[in-house]
Amino acid sequence: MNTPFTIALAGKGGTGKTSLSALIIKTLQEQGKGPILAVDADPNSTLSEILGVTVHQTIGDLREDTLDNISELPPSLSKSSYLELGLEECLVEEKDFDMLVMGHGEGPRCYCMVNHILRKYIEVLRKNYRYVIIDNEAGMEHLSRRTTQNVDILFIITHPEPISIRSASRIYQLVKKLKLHVKKPYLVINKVGGNLSSALKDEIANTGLPLFGEIPEDEELVHLALEGKPIWELSSQSKAQLAVKKFIHTCEKDMSQQYHSFPRQSSG
Ligand SMILES: Nc1ncnc2c1ncn2[C@@H]1O[C@H](COP(=O)(O)OP(=O)(O)OP(=O)(O)O)[C@@H](O)[C@H]1O
Ligand SMILES: [Mg+2]
Repeated sequence: MNTPFTIALAGKGGTGKTSLSALIIKTLQEQGKGPILAVDADPNSTLSEILGVTVHQTIGDLREDTLDNISELPPSLSKSSYLELGLEECLVEEKDFDMLVMGHGEGPRCYCMVNHILRKYIEVLRKNYRYVIIDNEAGMEHLSRRTTQNVDILFIITHPEPISIRSASRIYQLVKKLKLHVKKPYLVINKVGGNLSSALKDEIANTGLPLFGEIPEDEELVHLALEGKPIWELSSQSKAQLAVKKFIHTCEKDMSQQYHSFPRQSSG
């Protein structure tokens, strides 16, 4: 059991949250830094597809199913055990990473008890991993629902466009306003095609968010998406993948200065 290193990705629609989540997972897996828990927190989930994972049950399904069946559970099976077993079914096990899909949000019923128990089990489950990577939905709903909690690094992804950067700034303001447990929020500029203009640099400075780095526009990622292929088919020369490798290296250096317990690559 340990405290996993948690990276969450947020940002305006289509900025590259899912692609970058998948690239982080691929890089960590290739570097032998598992076990990794991939959490798809977007109700319109696509992370499983890009990772080539088949999901049979989401946490949303489990919540509904539990409320549907709660009155008919045999006396020997507590609600808590039912949910614990259900959570195991939601977890898809792959090579060096497992995946949990949160699925749809809540309907009009009362989910307090179910959520309370699930939160407890998910908290226990997290401790089995060295890394937890959370791909969030676009917008800020997930922040106001406080699903992005206990995060070491929050990457707010933006395109190199003023409108996208201002949107990232609003996300950052909300993170601060809600006092979310995010140790380090950073801005990441994705799909960079050339040098950033000075106007754009000013826009970035105005956000008050430290800039973590840039990910170049990557033809390979474009083709992969067009052909509907999983991230594993990306070559090791992919520009985006190479940039993500550097990101992970920086995260490790940065965090190891703060946390002695930061997970290190095992020597064998
Ligand atoms: N660095 C990049 N270079 C080229 N294409 C990219 C890059 N990053 C992402 N893309 C492409 O941009 C599109 C949107 O990316 P992605 O689905 O990852 O965004 P998202 O932020 O998760 O979107 P949503 O808000 O809908 O969840 C995809 O077609 C993806 O392949
Ligand atoms: Mg996405």
